[in-house]
Amino acid sequence: MGAMKSRFEGTQVNLRRITPADADDLVRHIGDRDISRQTFIPYPYGRKDARRFIAWSQEQWRKKTAFPFSIEDRRTGRVVGGIGLHRINFLHKNAELGYWLNKRYRGRGVMTEAVHLILAFAFRELKFERVYGHVFVSNDASVRVLRRVGFKREGYLRRSYFHRRRWQDSHLYAILKQDWRPPTGKPTRPKARRSTASRTKTPRRIVTTRRTAPARRTVTARRSVPARRRA
Ligand SMILES: CC(C)(COP(=O)(O)OP(=O)(O)OC[C@H]1O[C@@H](n2cnc3c(N)ncnc32)[C@H](O)[C@@H]1OP(=O)(O)O)[C@@H](O)C(=O)NCCC(=O)NCCS
Repeated sequence: MGAMKSRFEGTQVNLRRITPADADDLVRHIGDRDISRQTFIPYPYGRKDARRFIAWSQEQWRKKTAFPFSIEDRRTGRVVGGIGLHRINFLHKNAELGYWLNKRYRGRGVMTEAVHLILAFAFRELKFERVYGHVFVSNDASVRVLRRVGFKREGYLRRSYFHRRRWQDSHLYAILKQDWRPPTGKPTRPKARRSTASRTKTPRRIVTTRRTAPARRTVTARRSVPARRRA
């Protein structure tokens, strides 16, 4: 394998390797109870944790045993989240995906974009066949991200993690290289435009309504998502 590409640019965020200069951002953005509920990231999270994580990340990249990335806000260049491939298996060409995002950046497709970017790394750079993720059954937001990107649920793993002094059931989700459809950059919402003929007759206010509608719809959908628990 030649020099590996380790910077991936999206519309809202970029993925890049973690550096020691990210320590402050990590401490500020990762220290969140919600994140520690759904991951094995400790809470509270201090400078020592950040320094240890950065050193670990650099070591993993060097040994090619894991590939942790920072999620960088394109506007500010600050780190607002993390995403990584772990349990790298070069023999069978697969890896496990994990991620977290600061609260203030959630609910606007940031992680959906970040997952597509890391799949470009997994499928195009590493030439892997399969990427999988384990999600606690309580984590509806994470399940939505994976399903939206095209991951399929392969299993329900009972009492698969001992977390915060309790057994947790988890879903196993996976995506194969052949099933991944990278985003085209065009909106995925229902047909944004009609044919030219009908558009000329469309009153202007309808077009305006259409542009503002998706945001509201997303909020409503979020509240009404049924828990995806299955036995
Ligand atoms: C999971 C997480 C990364 C999602 O990031 P995000 O940028 O908000 O994700 P997106 O905006 O790309 O997509 C969020 C989806 O979840 C939905 N969602 C958000 N909060 C939700 C909630 N509490 N319940 C159900 N769905 C929710 C959104 O509506 C959206 O679904 P849609 O695309 O169908 O509209 C973020 O919530 C997080 O960091 N959580 C804590 C750490 C964590 O859970 N890590 C993953 C461990 S498996």
